[in-house]
Amino acid sequence: MNKIDYLRVSLIDRCNFRCQYCMPEDAQLTYVLPQDLLSDQELLTLLREVFIPLGWRKFRLTGGEPLLRPGVVNLVREIASWPETEDLAMTSNGFLLSQMAEDLYQAGLHRLNISLDSLQKDNFDKIIGHGSQTRWNRVWEGIQTAFKVGFDPLKLNVVVIPGVNDGEILDLAALTIEKNWHVRFIEFMPIGNQQLFGDRTFIPSGLLRQQIRAQWGLMESTVKGAGPAEVFKIPGSRGTLGFISQMSECFCDRCNRMRLSADGWLRPCLLNESGQLDLKTDLRNGVSLEQLREKVRQVLILKPEINFQERESGTDTGIYTRTMSQIGG
Ligand code: GTP
Ligand code: 5AD
Ligand code: SF4
Repeated sequence: MNKIDYLRVSLIDRCNFRCQYCMPEDAQLTYVLPQDLLSDQELLTLLREVFIPLGWRKFRLTGGEPLLRPGVVNLVREIASWPETEDLAMTSNGFLLSQMAEDLYQAGLHRLNISLDSLQKDNFDKIIGHGSQTRWNRVWEGIQTAFKVGFDPLKLNVVVIPGVNDGEILDLAALTIEKNWHVRFIEFMPIGNQQLFGDRTFIPSGLLRQQIRAQWGLMESTVKGAGPAEVFKIPGSRGTLGFISQMSECFCDRCNRMRLSADGWLRPCLLNESGQLDLKTDLRNGVSLEQLREKVRQVLILKPEINFQERESGTDTGIYTRTMSQIGG
């Protein structure tokens, strides 16, 4: 069994963007009320007293948009200061990074994944669901700032949407030629928005690789991540290309992670709600830390079954009552 030592921690379910694949405009979104969010103290207690003693060492802060969480820099500073923290990373939409990248870096965050679905402003606007073209500029500026202050690796996430940004694969891949950036193409996952793109669901990563190979050639990279991406390189380029192919090539058998939602639910698998635990309510009801550790330990034991059920049935048996923004991606 894989070692489960990576926790994706959603800091907030709200976002300043409305990416179609994540928070579709017509979705009936209900946000977590402020009193139902884990407080900083509750969050830190869970990480320090429950997850770390059980062996978790890698934390990725997600959202919604994690930079909207008040006090996010202090949370980063605290988590980064623990000797047990081997890896602290964040996934952001980049909009607030030009203001915040330096403080985050100084606080101890050194790994950043930024969503960038398009290099064309009108396409970008179509995807993020806002009319303003200035948003692309802000995100691009945020990426440049993050690069300048030293984030390494800097990963750019592209969710490929047939008929929208699939004409930009080569332009996006070309970003890795000059810069040591990691561009990752992600197959769209129909979570909480099954109807969104109708019949045009996802483009298998294999087809994207064919396109890139025909243009420049493509080789497997020696840089391997611990995550779901398969990593390749354009020969001679400085950066890498990652392919996250959860629809065409299931990677559940190498899963090393669980998720903690902003309102304190532990979710063992992105694609399935089985085995969830309401840690916040337990904590507020005075359940002891030892009892919480025992509950989480039981989920850890069950986790492979939760994944494999999905895989072996070969059908989509996932339960999606939450959108990606509510789960944390
Ligand atoms: P690193 O490998 O640590 O850089 O992170 P990552 O690629 O796991 O994180 P990121 O937040 O950038 O996620 C990239 C894509 O992978 C998103 O579309 C996520 O939804 C997807 N993803 C991350 N973890 C899982 C997982 O456990 N299962 C599935 N199916 N998709 C995942
Ligand atoms: N399918 C695939 N990736 C998604 N993300 C958000 N929603 C989806 C989806 N439905 C990605 C975002 C972000 C990461 C956290 O998850 O682009 O980079
Ligand atoms: Fe916001 Fe990220 Fe979801 Fe887009 S993918 S709506 S940026 S949380």
